[in-house]
Amino acid sequence: MTAPAATDPSTAAAAAATEETTRTSESTAPAARLSHVSKSFGPPGARQHVLDDITLDVAPGEFVTLLGASGCGKSTLLNLVAGLDSPTGGSVHVPGGRPALMFQEHALFPWLTAGRNIELALKLRGVPKAERRPRAEELLELVRLQGAHRKRVHELSGGMRQRVALARALAQDSRLLLMDEPFAALDAITRDVLHEELSRVWSGTGLSVLFVTHNVREAVRLAQRVVLLSSRPGRIARQWEIAIPQPRRIEDGDVAALSAEITEQLRGEIRRHGRH
Ligand SMILES: Nc1ncnc2c1ncn2[C@@H]1O[C@H](COP(=O)(O)OP(=O)(O)O)[C@@H](O)[C@H]1O
Ligand SMILES: [Mg+2]
Repeated sequence: MTAPAATDPSTAAAAAATEETTRTSESTAPAARLSHVSKSFGPPGARQHVLDDITLDVAPGEFVTLLGASGCGKSTLLNLVAGLDSPTGGSVHVPGGRPALMFQEHALFPWLTAGRNIELALKLRGVPKAERRPRAEELLELVRLQGAHRKRVHELSGGMRQRVALARALAQDSRLLLMDEPFAALDAITRDVLHEELSRVWSGTGLSVLFVTHNVREAVRLAQRVVLLSSRPGRIARQWEIAIPQPRRIEDGDVAALSAEITEQLRGEIRRHGRH
């Protein structure tokens, strides 16, 4: 069946313009938009107000770290962006669809090889069978684990497991990657190497990243913008745009200087709320 063609050039031009607008607004829409978000837990009378009036945009391709003391609500906030929980007040929009997630625990399936873990993510995304293996190989190469396709999870070091977890997150092909203290359990040297890998992968993909940490230097090492959360309830206390050029190292003088300034603010937040 053939629909009558739109012969009127003005209609065609209007249609093209609409399409262009849609495409443009898709690519310029924030990767995540939080407006006046609050979150409380517990029954009335014993209610814990965890997040209060959080307004935050993550721009397309932006790398934002969310920094705060333990218990201030960082994971709660990330869960809201992931769609794993809903806010008590305000709104959370993630226009580009379901974000990819990466946690401190790698959450790989131990009965599958590294490669199969990634292929499973591709399968869930509907990638045809024949394309899965080569794509998984590419992703393993991207995280510098070429040749590890057949390795089982218990044969991999902690750092290698997190590399596979990163490859699996990238397999989801999301616009937004949410990372909750993904390197917190690694030793300092492995963490340093993974910071380099993550920076490299991020700059090559145009992904937006929202990265949660309580480690100030890690926040400054990685991000274009650091957002400091206060505690009880978690509110945005202050933000820093980080202009220090990449590649940065955690021991660089300007990373250390800015980290010292941010640590001072964080100490103030912790003193104000005690009990940490
Ligand atoms: N599902 C939940 N039910 C009740 N309380 C929760 C729940 N999730 C988190 N909390 C509480 O919210 C506060 C913030 O937790 P969380 O977001 O995990 O902090 P962070 O990740 O910054 O360490 C904590 O006091 C925690 O006990
Ligand atoms: Mg947490």
